[in-house]
Amino acid sequence: MPGVLLPYIYAAFSQTHMLWDYACTRVNSHAAISLAYASTIKWKEVTTLDFPPNLWRVGIITGLLKPFLQILWWFSLIGLSSQTRSHYKFVVREAQYTRLCSTKSILTVNGKFPGPTIKVHRGKTIFVNVYNKGNYNITIHWHGVKQPRNAWTDGPAYITQCPIQPGMKFRQKLVFFYEEGTIWWHAHSDWSRATVHGVINVYPTKNTPYPFPKPHADIPIIFGEWWTNDVNEVLRQSVETGAAPNISDALTVNGQPGDLYPCSMPETFKLNVEQGRTYHLRVVNAAMNLILFFSVSQHKLTVVGADGMFTRPLTRDFICISPGQTMDVLLHANQEPNHYYLAARAYSSGLGIGFDNTTTTARVEYSANYTPPSSLSLPYLPNFNDTRAAFDFITSLRGLPERCPNPVPTTITTQIVTTVSVNTLPCPKGRTCRGPNGTILAASMNNISFQTPNTDILKAYYYHINGVFKTGFPRFPPFMFNFTADLLPITLNIPKQGTKVNVLNYGASVEIVFQGTNIAAGIDHPMHLHGFSFHVVGYGLGNFNRSKDPMNFNLVDPPYLNTVIVPVNGWAAIRFVASNPGVWFMHCHLERHQVWGMETVFIVKNGKASNETLPPPPPDMPPC
Ligand code: C2O
Ligand code: CU
Repeated sequence: MPGVLLPYIYAAFSQTHMLWDYACTRVNSHAAISLAYASTIKWKEVTTLDFPPNLWRVGIITGLLKPFLQILWWFSLIGLSSQTRSHYKFVVREAQYTRLCSTKSILTVNGKFPGPTIKVHRGKTIFVNVYNKGNYNITIHWHGVKQPRNAWTDGPAYITQCPIQPGMKFRQKLVFFYEEGTIWWHAHSDWSRATVHGVINVYPTKNTPYPFPKPHADIPIIFGEWWTNDVNEVLRQSVETGAAPNISDALTVNGQPGDLYPCSMPETFKLNVEQGRTYHLRVVNAAMNLILFFSVSQHKLTVVGADGMFTRPLTRDFICISPGQTMDVLLHANQEPNHYYLAARAYSSGLGIGFDNTTTTARVEYSANYTPPSSLSLPYLPNFNDTRAAFDFITSLRGLPERCPNPVPTTITTQIVTTVSVNTLPCPKGRTCRGPNGTILAASMNNISFQTPNTDILKAYYYHINGVFKTGFPRFPPFMFNFTADLLPITLNIPKQGTKVNVLNYGASVEIVFQGTNIAAGIDHPMHLHGFSFHVVGYGLGNFNRSKDPMNFNLVDPPYLNTVIVPVNGWAAIRFVASNPGVWFMHCHLERHQVWGMETVFIVKNGKASNETLPPPPPDMPPC
């Protein structure tokens, strides 16, 4: 009972979230858990819910009854939100995993691969205590969480924080705004995200229905890539040689390669379904370097959400999803009871670029009385290089404006056109380089190959520390050529290396056109922006035409995403309002391109009002 009363006392004396939160870290066990739930309710709601004014008027509630009712109400709350929590503990540590007949040590969260699922309601704020019990510096990023006025715990290494060193901890605040559906979290330092990642289920606010019939169950479908070798070694080798990193040995669904790989069959991921029911697949592409096609034999798939925002339903035989993207997909179990494959493999548009061309599978198994076949056939998937299929899919997705509080900006104050390019750098004297023609592979935006600094840009910006970054990222390509021509010499445009950022005024209406180039290798680029979602107003193949293409922009129901696929030798246009002050990373979500420098940073200045200003950092920011 004292444990139960304690929160009541806190409730009476603390009206702010800060204090609630402080209380949570001070009380133990049962009380702490209950308090965590209670802390998600604002004080105002507590008073109005708890002490109905009309009852006060008739004088039924006495001073003794009041706390009793409060406790009752407070217990009912636990039942209501038993799925979600406001505090999580993430212990990053090594664990042994066996895949493809061999065992290795991988970095995990809480020993799990994929890591734990975060469950939260739209608009809530939660906390994750991240403990680094591993051997490497790490950071954790909450991909798709917009973090309004909270860049400090966004996570990208050397952009918003220094990494958490082994033995250290960092308490990260996650401010959900209007995300709903599925997003995810992953490590954001070196290549650790290969195994350090998990899904975030964001439910609508209480009493708000889904914009589709409520599915029977949530099922995570997390795609990944597995290397038999240590991923740090894969990264180290490619940095040392200047060549592309070794391709993965398997693709995985929820950590499992599936039936088609050696030593994998017994542990293939199985979705048990009942005929007539609908399942909510929470799909994450956590692969490092591969855009994927996936499908389910004899079933259609209906996309109802993407990147944490619901969409108009899009029903297709297959889906195309890039690293960084997430989708809410409905699977109707409306076929003959049987076993069916869910299968995924690469979409790889780069001519002559090596990639993992294996196929991962999971099984959809109907529960009923029947004899399953001894072998299953694979579903239809487009060819590896079927750009038409990929382009048709990605350009068919439509947003759901009625669910999205941010209208599409129609007047643009800041226009940016940027190339996204794979390049080469000359081999320094005395080194052997194994990139194309003995060069070093690089990548750039507007011909700047981004160099990650040694202290984080956010701290440098906030405390006016000179020498960490430079402003003046070019608003247009510094050198114009036929970006998507068939034959471009690999040395056409040797990028400059630097740490150049874009400074945006608070409230600027920004349009960015990403222009793919065919320099070292034309390929699709999934471009991701932290701190925002953006409206994808247009896509095209070939060069962007500034006078013609904007006339076809979709300003009515564009998808509202955080990761956009820039089609191979083509372009994509996005719009957003810079209403989130802070430092925000933008990068290609193909990990190798990020390592090569296909990224930049946006600094969004403070506005005038106090709620347009970046607050000071939390006290436990990791030191460099
Ligand atoms: Cu999925 Cu910069 O992150
Ligand atoms: Cu890329």
